[in-house]
This record gives sequence, structure tokens and C-alpha cells, in this order.
Amino acid sequence: MRVGSFDTILVTGGAGFIGSNFVLQWLKECESGVINLDLLTYAGNRGNLASLEANPKHIFVQGDICDAELVGSLLQKYRPRAIVHFAAESHVDRSIVVPDAFLRTNIQGTFVLLDQAKKYWSGLNDSDRSRFRFLHVSTDEVYGTLSESDPAFCETTAYAPNSPYAASKAASDHMVRAYQHTFGLPTLTTNCSNNYGPLQFPEKLIPLMILNALEDKPLPVYGDGRNVRDWLFVEDHCSAIRTVLSRGVVGETYNIGGNSERANIDVVTAICNMVDEMRAEPSACPRRRLITYVQDRPGHDRRYAIDASKISRDLGWKPAEQFESGLRKTVKWYLDNAAWIDSVRTGAYREWIAQNYSERSEI
Ligand code: NAD
Ligand code: TYD
Repeated sequence: MRVGSFDTILVTGGAGFIGSNFVLQWLKECESGVINLDLLTYAGNRGNLASLEANPKHIFVQGDICDAELVGSLLQKYRPRAIVHFAAESHVDRSIVVPDAFLRTNIQGTFVLLDQAKKYWSGLNDSDRSRFRFLHVSTDEVYGTLSESDPAFCETTAYAPNSPYAASKAASDHMVRAYQHTFGLPTLTTNCSNNYGPLQFPEKLIPLMILNALEDKPLPVYGDGRNVRDWLFVEDHCSAIRTVLSRGVVGETYNIGGNSERANIDVVTAICNMVDEMRAEPSACPRRRLITYVQDRPGHDRRYAIDASKISRDLGWKPAEQFESGLRKTVKWYLDNAAWIDSVRTGAYREWIAQNYSERSEI
């Protein structure tokens, strides 16, 4: 990697679920290197990047996006041509229990990055200044919730965030917009639906259900199980981000989705059937007998759905994976990666599971 040559990118949160998938895909598909800034919170895992240990195109820096001095010095030292900003607190249930961390990382952290990016970008020569991009990775949850008959979220849907997580991401989106509008910082924002795939921390629905099904534990479905999410395979999200980074119009936002709306209970049932098929231990089958309806999440959004026609029409991006084949790959990945699972299920993880589920009575 040629340090300071204006061809690297700075990725934040690149040891998390989507960030690490993005970094791995980037280094496979692209020539330029990656500076990876990640604090390694409970959700970050260096093991996700183990295959890059000897790769000179990947530089890992353990640090906080809220540390302005560190961010400023990394920009000056490595002179990236883009920042791709994933780092966040990302779990809705945790945001209900400890919202403070969400305000700090998602709002303050994004502000620090924007402000340092503005200083760095202002000092570039004309040609580099026109090439620089700040890509902010956000969520469809900023739009709030839909009823069964509402049209899907599009880029002009009014923001109506409902959870502390969604509100903190909405605030960060607004700050990105303001830095573009006020200072001309060349930003791009993506709002994506629920991701699934390898390397997802097992506090989110799909990996949690796969692991519980494997271990013959209850599968805690919130409320009536009819909440709907629009699922996208993580590698498709990463390819969409690369597309927006290379061809997106500065100042624009792009919705990214998988055209795969599914009710939670259908997702959990599909996981049970796949685990039954791949690990047919007679005593455990059928795993759907483990499904347990538990007390709902407070303020639980009913339905998310993404209208991804803008990115498809303007930039030519479409998801490559179907939900059922992507889910099958994901189940298989968790079955084949027991060592990774052991490495992320530390004491802190066990404490979270105990805290989140002990207070949810069965319904
Ligand atoms: P994740 O929780 O798996 O990973 C977050 C990463 O950020 C971790 O590696 C963590 O160590 C790092 N991090 C947290 N605080 C930090 C800080 N202060 N400084 C530096 N690093 C820090 O999250 P994810 O699911 O990979 O999501 C990545 C991004 O994509 C987030 O911005 C999220 O809002 C967005 N997003 C996620 C989804 C989804 O379904 N997971 C969907 C749409 C958008
Ligand atoms: P989650 O993976 O936490 O993503 P998000 O809240 O960002 O959509 O949850 C996905 C859906 O699954 C959501 O409707 C809540 C539900 N859910 C359960 O029913 N049980 C669980 O144990 C978890 C973690 C989620």
C-alpha cells in the first residue's frame, strides 16, 4: 500500500459484522488498501479479519471515532480518498437498555468524523478535493414503522425514528446532510434494510436463532411474531456501498434493500427446518418445537420495507442473493464455524443474553 498516495480508504467499524464483510470484499475486488479504525467494542472482533493478518493492504487501528485527535492524525498520515463510516452501536434492544452509548458513538462519533473530514478535505489540492467522498452507512429504521398496506420507504419518506437506536442514526444522517449543505463536504448516505450473513454477532435475530436451535434452547420470538423485516444478504449490502461510492451523486441518499419481506415467525421457522436438515439429530427435531413467544420489545416497529428503485435505476445495482439461498449459506456458515462462535460468546455476551431474556416472560 502506498501510504499518502490518495488511493486508500478509511473504514470505521471494520471489525463489526457489515464492516468486516465490506473490508474482506473490498480487498478481494479492489486494488487500493484499507485503513480500518475500530474500537473493538463487544461487537467488534479482530478474528473477523484473521485472513488479512499478513495482507499489507490492510492496516488495523484500534481506536475511538470520538477521538478527534486520533481521527485527524489518521487522515493526515494516510491521506485516504474516502471515508466509509460503519462504526456504530447497532442493536435496538441494547439501545432500550443503555441509550447513552448510542448517543455517544452514533451522534458524537459521526460529528467528530465529519468535522475532521471537513478539515482534511479543505486542505486537499483541487483534484483530490473533487475526488474525496464521505460515505455514511445508515439504516431504514430512521423512517419509523409501516402498516401492512403502506408503500415501502423511499428516499423522500419523512424521518420518524422510534427507538433510541433509530433516533441516534437519524441524528447522524441529519448531521451528514448539514455538513454537505453548509460546507460542501462531498457526502453520500445509504439507508439499508436488515442484513444477515456470516460474521453477525449472535445477539441479532438470525444468528441468535441458529445458535439456539443448534443447542436445543428456546427460540424467543417477540410479541406475535408477525413483525416484518426486509432482509438483505450482507455481501449485497457491501456491493451496493461500493457502487454508491464509485458512482453515487454527491449529496444524495440511496435506499438499499433486498425485496425480501418476511415475518419473523417465518424466518425462525425456516431456520428450524434448515438446521433440522443439516443437523438431523433425532432427539432435537423438529426444532420448531423450541419456538417460544415472549414479551414484546417496547415500541417494536411493525414493518420495514425498502423501495430500492433509485439505486437500481440510477446506479444499476441489484441484490444478487435470494433470501432462501442466502439464509441457507448463513445457517451453514454458523454450523461450520464453531470456533468463531466460541470466541464471540464471552462473559459479556452471556450477561446480555441473561439480562435481555430473563425479564421477558413467556406469553
Ligand atoms: P456491529 O455492531 O456489528 O459493528 C459495529 C462496529 O463498530 C464494531 O466493530 C464496533 O467495535 C465498532 N465501534 C463501535 N463503537 C465504536 C467507536 N466509538 N469507535 C470505533 N469503532 C466503534 O454493526 P453492523 O451490524 O456491522 O452495522 C454497521 C453499520 O451499518 C452501522 O452503522 C449500522 O447502523 C448500519 N446498518 C446495519 C444494519 C444491520 O442489519 N446490521 C442495517 C442497516 C444499516
Ligand atoms: P433484530 O435482529 O434485533 O433487528 P432490528 O430490531 O434492527 O430489526 O430483530 C429483527 C426482528 O426480530 C425484530 O422484529 C425483533 C425480532 N426479534 C425477536 O423476535 N426475538 C429476538 O430474540 C430478537 C433479537 C429479535
